[in-house]
Amino acid sequence: MRKGIILAGGAGTRLWPLTAYTCKQLLPVYDKPLIYYPLTSLILAGIQDILIISTPEDTPVLQKALGDGAFYGVSIQYAVQENPNGLAEALIIGEEFLGGEDCCLILGDNILYRSGFTHFMKAAIAENSGATVFGFPVKDPSRFGVIETADDAQKVLSLEEKPEKPKSNLAAIGLYLYDGSASEKARSLKPGKRGELEITDLNLLYLHEDRLNHCRFSRGDFWLDAGLFETLNDASNLVRLTEDYTGQKIGCPEEAAFVMGNIDRDTVLERAEMMPQSAYSAYLRRIARPKGTMFGTEE
Ligand code: G1P
Repeated sequence: MRKGIILAGGAGTRLWPLTAYTCKQLLPVYDKPLIYYPLTSLILAGIQDILIISTPEDTPVLQKALGDGAFYGVSIQYAVQENPNGLAEALIIGEEFLGGEDCCLILGDNILYRSGFTHFMKAAIAENSGATVFGFPVKDPSRFGVIETADDAQKVLSLEEKPEKPKSNLAAIGLYLYDGSASEKARSLKPGKRGELEITDLNLLYLHEDRLNHCRFSRGDFWLDAGLFETLNDASNLVRLTEDYTGQKIGCPEEAAFVMGNIDRDTVLERAEMMPQSAYSAYLRRIARPKGTMFGTEE
C-alpha cells in the first residue's frame, strides 16, 4: 500500500475560539503541531504518497507548514474540502489521487501510539480484504463509531455510529484501510443524520459484502481523538509524560522517515540546520548521530 490520505478538514467548532484564528491541525499537542502525529503514523505505516485534505482557509497554511514532503522522504499533495460534508467525502475528493489504488485514511486529529506500529500496520495491510477498521477499548464508546466483534476475532459483527446503547467498548478510531473501490462506494452514500457522508456508512457497505476486517489496539497502546479541549489537553499531557520519561519523541515525522529509511542522516541534519536552535532541532541532531536510534536502544 503506497497511498494515504490525512483528512484535516472540519470547521473546528468544538475547539472554538482556539480555531477562530488558527488552523486546528496546527494547534500544539505539547511540543508539536497536531498534524505531525497522524503524518508520523502514515510514515511509520510505510505510506509514500500522501494527500492532505483540508478547508479552503487551512490548506495553504498546511502546505506552508509541511511542503512537498521532501524532508520526510514522501510526496505530499494537497486538496480542499469546500464544506464539512463528512469524513467519507475524503475518498471522493481523493479519487483522482488514488487512481483506484488501495489506501490508508487517517483523521488529522487522531493521535496513535503503539510499540511495533510498523509491524502492526504491515500485518493489517496484508490481511485487508476490502476495508479495515481499528478498534480501541474506551470507557465512553457512545461518542464514537462502535465495533462489535465475535470474541475479539477479526470479523466485524456490527458497526454503529455513536449508538445510545453500544454493543461493545471498542471505538472505531480514525484510521481505516480501503481497497480500490472506496471512492466509488463513497459516491453512492447519502448524507446521514448530521447531514454528512458518514465514514461508518462507507464501512457498512464493506460489512454487507462481508469484507470488513477489524484490528485491535490493546493495553499499553494509546489513541486519542484530540478534537475536544479535554482530549487536546490529555494528548499534550500524555506526550509530555512519555517524552520526558523516555527521552524519545512521539509524532516526530523526520525521525519516522529516518527509521523507515525514507531519508538519510544528512537530510535529518539538514532539516535541523534549517530550524532555530530548539529542543526539536537538538533532538533531530541526536537521533542522526551514528549511534542514535529511534527508540534509543543503543543509547
Ligand atoms: C468520527 C467517526 C467515528 C470515529 C471517530 C474517531 O467521529 O464518525 O466513527 O469513531 O471519528 O475519531 P466525529 O469525530 O466525526 O464525531
